[in-house]
Amino acid sequence: MAEYKIAWLPGDGIGVDVLEAAKIVLDKVQLDAKYLPGDIGWEFWCKEGDAFPPRTIELLKNVDAAMFGAITSKPAKITATELAPALQNKGLTYRSPIVRMRQLFDLYICLRPCKGYPRNPLNFKEGIDLVVYRENTEDLYAGVEFAPVPQELADTLMKLAKPFAPFAKLPLDQYAISCKINTRAGSERIVRAAFEFAKQHGRKKITVVHKANVVRATDGLFLEAAKTVAKDFPGIKMDDANIDAMTMWLLKNPFNYDVLVAPNLYGDIISDLCAQMVGGLGFGCSGNIGKKLAVFEPTHGSAPKYAGQYKVNPIATILAVKMMLDWLGESRKAVALEAAVAQVIKEGKVRTYDMGGSSTTLQMAQAIAEKL
Ligand code: IPM
Ligand code: MG
Repeated sequence: MAEYKIAWLPGDGIGVDVLEAAKIVLDKVQLDAKYLPGDIGWEFWCKEGDAFPPRTIELLKNVDAAMFGAITSKPAKITATELAPALQNKGLTYRSPIVRMRQLFDLYICLRPCKGYPRNPLNFKEGIDLVVYRENTEDLYAGVEFAPVPQELADTLMKLAKPFAPFAKLPLDQYAISCKINTRAGSERIVRAAFEFAKQHGRKKITVVHKANVVRATDGLFLEAAKTVAKDFPGIKMDDANIDAMTMWLLKNPFNYDVLVAPNLYGDIISDLCAQMVGGLGFGCSGNIGKKLAVFEPTHGSAPKYAGQYKVNPIATILAVKMMLDWLGESRKAVALEAAVAQVIKEGKVRTYDMGGSSTTLQMAQAIAEKL
């Protein structure tokens, strides 16, 4: 069997802690793999003016999959002093490396399973098992943004959208524009991925999340694309809901839902809500999946205040490892790993602080490894 090449990208903050935990379980399942470390994160922004340097992009072109920890995201405008002196006042803008990675490698699926494992004290209700398919490259994440607004754009808006664009009369630095861009092909492929998943895993229903009653052009297109794709899957039910109502209904009755599919930003929001219902961000795992490459990560951020303390729950990352094993076709190892996680949660002897215990990140990983 071929030896896998796995890019290893801890990033910063607790990304480092949780990837150390991931390595413990990977070693125990004896995945035949080479782990290739890559530079990514805040440190490289400060030193090199690039949080996702070209050498790391090259690395990702030559691997089977990647494990990613977390990185500290900062607002676009950064105080110059955080950058190395040679890079200051060069007008560099910071863009989230994970968002860039998703776009650069066309990782168009953001898959976020949210399963409540039995007897997790943090379960909102027992038995929740939702799956979020989030579009991962378009929408408000397109990165087409203007602040200040260029004069040509203001003129065009005045011309094309006059009655709806009173703001276009304001001074150019008194408003900002972020473009929500959704393509038909991009919408269809994420919905298709959700349906294929439902078909493969015997899921009964897809719910399309949108706001097409107000955001008519882009969300209207997304919904229309979903209806087109649904015709190819007559055995699977599809319904749809506005994002606002969806958050209420999900809390009221999560058991009415099964697989959710959404444009990028709504998917971002709804996946945090779903993760919270199954124990919080300590349990939210994520796969950024394209045709050639897939990058797996915990959904949580870098939590700098806990960095290096080995305090946080590694389960989100360990479940991301499980997703990676599935993606590589190592389903026996994936099933075993998930069973080990479930058993440790159920026994309740080893718990990190978020679960009311005092075990460390690595003790939790070791407890899971011992069940393997
Ligand atoms: C996520 C995160 C990212 C996102 C951030 C860190 C850029 O919230 O993966 O859900 O918004 O996609
Ligand atoms: Mg998010």
